[in-house]
Amino acid sequence: MTIPRMRAARSPKEERTIAAKSASRAAPATSKVKVDPARCQVHARCIAVAPELFELDRFGSSSEKGRGIVPPGLEHKARLAKANCPEFAVEIIEE
Ligand code: F3S
Repeated sequence: MTIPRMRAARSPKEERTIAAKSASRAAPATSKVKVDPARCQVHARCIAVAPELFELDRFGSSSEKGRGIVPPGLEHKARLAKANCPEFAVEIIEE
């Protein structure tokens, strides 16, 4: 009969490394929206379907709010805005 070998205990450094790797794997991807100002013709559909993500800028065309980061739970609105822009000016960037 063989006796199973005991696994050596991990050092605290090894534990932290393993925890960091699993945390980075579990982190959700960040999405960003971007409006191409050269294409935007101010149909304002993006603002209508996702006012949390888009606004009119001082030049009268649509632009992304903040830095374009899509908050968790609003990814569907970003896709809706992209699908509804007749000028194909809305881009979604996955990071
Ligand atoms: Fe411009 Fe398209 Fe929105 S044309 S205002 S980005 S729906």
